[in-house]
Amino acid sequence: MEKSTIAAILLLHLSIFQSQSAVHSLATPSDNDFSYMEFVFNATDLPLEEEYDYIIVGGGTAGCPLAATLSANYSVLVVERGSILIEYPSVLREEGFVTNLMQEDDGKTAAQKFTSDDGVSNARGRVLGGSSMINAGFYSRAEKEFYAQSGIEWDMALVDKAYSWVEDTIVFQPKLETWQSVVKEALLEAGVGPDNGFSLDHIKGTKVGGSIFDDHGRRHGAVELLNRGEPKNLRVAVHATVESIIFSSNSISLSAIGIIYSDSNGKTHWANVHNKGEVILSAGAIGSPQLLLLSGISVIHPQPNIGQFMYDNPRNFIIILPPSPLDLSSLQIVGITSDFYIETLSYHVPANPKYLILANIAAKVPGPLSYGSLRLQSSFDVKIIPNVSFNYFTHPMDLARCFSGMRKLRDLLKTDSLEPFKTNSSSGTEGFKFYGPSLPVNQTDNASFETFCRSTVATFWHYHGGCLVGKVVDGRLRVMGINALPVVDGSTFNFSPGTNPQATLMMLGRYVGLEVLQEGEVCEG
Ligand SMILES: Cc1cc2nc3c(=O)[nH]c(=O)nc-3n(C[C@H](O)[C@H](O)[C@H](O)COP(=O)(O)OP(=O)(O)OC[C@H]3O[C@@H](n4cnc5c(N)ncnc54)[C@H](O)[C@@H]3O)c2cc1C
Ligand SMILES: *[C@@H]1O[C@H](CO)[C@@H](O)[C@H](O)[C@H]1NC(C)=O
Ligand SMILES: *[C@@H]1O[C@H](CO)[C@@H](O)[C@H](O)[C@H]1NC(C)=O
Ligand SMILES: *[C@@H]1O[C@H](CO)[C@@H](O)[C@H](O)[C@H]1NC(C)=O
Ligand SMILES: *[C@@H]1O[C@H](CO)[C@@H](O)[C@H](O)[C@H]1NC(C)=O
Ligand SMILES: *[C@@H]1O[C@H](CO)[C@@H](O)[C@H](O)[C@H]1NC(C)=O
Ligand SMILES: *[C@@H]1O[C@H](CO)[C@@H](O)[C@H](O)[C@H]1NC(C)=O
Repeated sequence: MEKSTIAAILLLHLSIFQSQSAVHSLATPSDNDFSYMEFVFNATDLPLEEEYDYIIVGGGTAGCPLAATLSANYSVLVVERGSILIEYPSVLREEGFVTNLMQEDDGKTAAQKFTSDDGVSNARGRVLGGSSMINAGFYSRAEKEFYAQSGIEWDMALVDKAYSWVEDTIVFQPKLETWQSVVKEALLEAGVGPDNGFSLDHIKGTKVGGSIFDDHGRRHGAVELLNRGEPKNLRVAVHATVESIIFSSNSISLSAIGIIYSDSNGKTHWANVHNKGEVILSAGAIGSPQLLLLSGISVIHPQPNIGQFMYDNPRNFIIILPPSPLDLSSLQIVGITSDFYIETLSYHVPANPKYLILANIAAKVPGPLSYGSLRLQSSFDVKIIPNVSFNYFTHPMDLARCFSGMRKLRDLLKTDSLEPFKTNSSSGTEGFKFYGPSLPVNQTDNASFETFCRSTVATFWHYHGGCLVGKVVDGRLRVMGINALPVVDGSTFNFSPGTNPQATLMMLGRYVGLEVLQEGEVCEG
């Protein structure tokens, strides 16, 4: 209570002096709230045929807030292929981030691994709450340009309301960890200013952002937004894999009327929507295009752009092995320029004899402009992940931005703030001990920086696209040419919002739900 008051006062000041738009009120740290478990069911315990007003495919980052919102006035079924969190305790802990990603994928783990055609290994959430349960927790709103570029017809007052609803429930102002404050100072020294203090807004300079980890290290993912739903209208099926969408056609139009999903015993269930209801795809940037393709949509209504325009923001980084122990820290700060975003993480990896402490500093290329595509590897089995390519750096702008970010990392290494993290202070910027590749030494050797960008590229896990606005869905996110089939997740984006996308995805779920409720009111009246 006291803490949030202080935060509110601080923000009020920030908003006066920097003319920021909103005064945010944040959540109060507390135990994870599992109240939603009263309406979560193992799919094996659900009937083989049912009817709802809305069916949401995927209980993920956008799907959970959407379901909670619609349940205020409609019956809602959420169908999630993954499990509940209790089966994966590390998901609920900040320090579990690296553990989850390193865990071997046994087909059931919360992080499903995949490798793109580019040869870059990647991950997607396979658990109730989706990728918000395996991510690094950083929370930051979209830039103004995003709304203009997205092609979605936004009502900006509703956008603000939707963000605030999310923030009231699961977003915290982090207690700044040592390593995070060191890099924040280094960024300011290296010219990524001004210091914008704590803010959820996208502003050039260096800031502390929000987090879905509270200061006891507990993760409050999108799943906890389900607690704000109406329990009597809400049902969530887990271990429920949607295999296809069911369509009905008459002489004038084609509509989505339901889905087929399978439970963990391999039994097939049918779920239909009532007249005026909708099937909403929130299966993520891989899952939503995959399901549209699997449902034979290209046969009934040719849609050549499904699975096209798949984007992934490159992550290029250096890893410093600090000379003395360092606290663990997840993403809390970010340096924002027009060319790149810089974020950092300190973590432990198992090693002989005990473990290594690593300090990773990474740059993200905004956008990006390069893109690839998604292709089914199996045209009947949804469990076989599609092939996906992202074609990193095929657009010269992406390469130029990476290059610019890498030069900034080199500047960071020259700062006084990072000096204590050198192993040998008498050997210039090379006094650092690196884990993996170090940056090219010659600042003016453009070719070796470009080679560095290409050869060390990893994912920031912000992949998006496949059901783009204007290509597959319209400005109100409905699949073009088909009734009652909105897509509400990262597959609709042609651009990764803000420094990190989860804030905007959670907002989007709430936002679309509020729009539907408003339309309901208009219809009744
Ligand atoms: C390792 C990692 C770190 C990240 N770090 C951050 C960060 O710090 N900050 C940030 O803002 N963003 C971060 N991100 C990105 C962010 O988490 C994602 O962009 C976002 O969660 C995607 O939301 P979504 O709703 O589009 O999809 P998801 O949240 O992935 O939801 C899709 C859901 O659909 C389910 N599903 C898919 N197919 C089916 C099917 N056939 N049947 C039933 N269910 C299905 C999935 O299991 C999943 O639960 C990170 C991502 C990862 C993977
Ligand atoms: C769901 O039910 C099936 C069949 O009863 C069982 O095998 C499975 O373990 C259950 N899963 C969970 C998560 O309870
Ligand atoms: C998908 O990738 C696999 C290898 O990972 C390859 O054998 C297969 O031909 C690819 N399929 C398509 C449709 O690209
Ligand atoms: C430290 O760097 C200097 C200059 O490069 C070098 O001469 C010296 O041997 C290094 N010392 C250690 C302990 O590596
Ligand atoms: C640095 O790279 C530039 C461009 O390739 C080259 O002209 C210059 O000689 C290099 N400097 C050193 C010290 O190698
Ligand atoms: C190297 O890149 C910088 C920054 O993009 C540019 O200003 C410079 O002209 C480039 N140098 C060469 C030799 O291409
Ligand atoms: C819910 O629906 C009823 C009629 O079915 C309508 O009168 C009411 O305004 C709706 N409420 C909300 C919050 O949309």
